[in-house]
Amino acid sequence: MQHRQIGPFKVSAIGLGCMNLSHAYGAPVSAEQGERVLLAALDAGVTLFDTAALYGFGNNEELLGRVLKPYRQTITLASKGGMAGVQFADGLKRVIDGRPEALRRNCEDSLRRLQTDVIDLYYLHRWDKSVPIEDSVGAMADLVQAGKVRTLGLSEVSANTLRRAHAVHPIAALQTEYSLWTRNPEIAVLAACRQLGTAFVAFSPVARGFLCDARLDLAGLDAKDIRRSMPRFESANYQANLGLLPAYLGLAQELGCSPAQLALAWLLHQGPEIIPIPGTTRQDHLIDDLGASRVKLGPAELERLNGLINQQTVHGARYGAQAAGEVDTETFQIAGL
Ligand SMILES: NC(=O)c1ccc[n+]([C@@H]2O[C@H](COP(=O)([O-])OP(=O)(O)OC[C@H]3O[C@@H](n4cnc5c(N)ncnc54)[C@H](OP(=O)(O)O)[C@@H]3O)[C@@H](O)[C@H]2O)c1
Repeated sequence: MQHRQIGPFKVSAIGLGCMNLSHAYGAPVSAEQGERVLLAALDAGVTLFDTAALYGFGNNEELLGRVLKPYRQTITLASKGGMAGVQFADGLKRVIDGRPEALRRNCEDSLRRLQTDVIDLYYLHRWDKSVPIEDSVGAMADLVQAGKVRTLGLSEVSANTLRRAHAVHPIAALQTEYSLWTRNPEIAVLAACRQLGTAFVAFSPVARGFLCDARLDLAGLDAKDIRRSMPRFESANYQANLGLLPAYLGLAQELGCSPAQLALAWLLHQGPEIIPIPGTTRQDHLIDDLGASRVKLGPAELERLNGLINQQTVHGARYGAQAAGEVDTETFQIAGL
């Protein structure tokens, strides 16, 4: 396993996105399966584990706390606050709240569920636009001072917001969607990260399963699968996007790697500060993903990939209107991307 750097932490070049074990793409896996995937990741040399207060409304952090506790000193544990479940009369609901008191509460809850005294990397999951970023990051800097978290991160923010936050406290990592079919960070965020020494953690790096072997059965998606609300997975767009796959799958075959490995290898070749965190519920997919660190791409292959799948060839925006309104990233001024 190759390694990369997040602030003071040397981490596996590919981390594990743990959301999928409890949330997002269908029903949560069983506790036993969640444990098997986490232990397989440890066994394979993964040292970066990514969770959030939001995932499974705390269940994902509880799973990681229980399974990873014996290995706590050997891993980099990343979690997120500022977007969490809040109990209302009609049930638990997702709320974005970046006020200092909310972040302090989120952090205490995460520490308890993760069964740890300190979180290595603590992200603001979404910038709450009703709260100045300086106030949210200031409260998170107080958590560093208090020894509750070691370093800070931001998720889904623009280059400008990153710079404002970094002026308050060093930002060790910025986490945003980045893959062949989501290029928004190339507009300004990657350059800002390089300039500031901020690691870039690429989420949804295999395009939420699209750049993998299995063709998704859209009609068969779970009612709660978040891809149902994503324009790229709407029927007409999805059919058009499928047209990108034959050449992509052909290139993977030519290079002797799997499609998921090709997507991850492309990311690893974009710069040493980039750390992809694929998510999976299966050990075989996990091992497949980790094999990407052995795939070497030359300039000609990178050029072919870049020409094949990019912001101009993909159909549909990455988020629907509600989710798009909640993020703070630069967007391409073409075709709603
Ligand atoms: N900060 C944020 O706002 C944010 C948002 C989204 C995600 N994230 C983080 O990023 C992580 C990864 O993102 P993601 O899960 O959205 O997208 P992803 O990693 O691009 O895709 C996950 C999907 O790909 C499938 N998959 C993964 N590897 C595969 C392989 N080798 N072969 C076949 N299928 C494969 C998985 O299915 P199987 O389960 O069947 O393998 C799953 O459906 C999350 O776990 C989370 O930690 C953060």
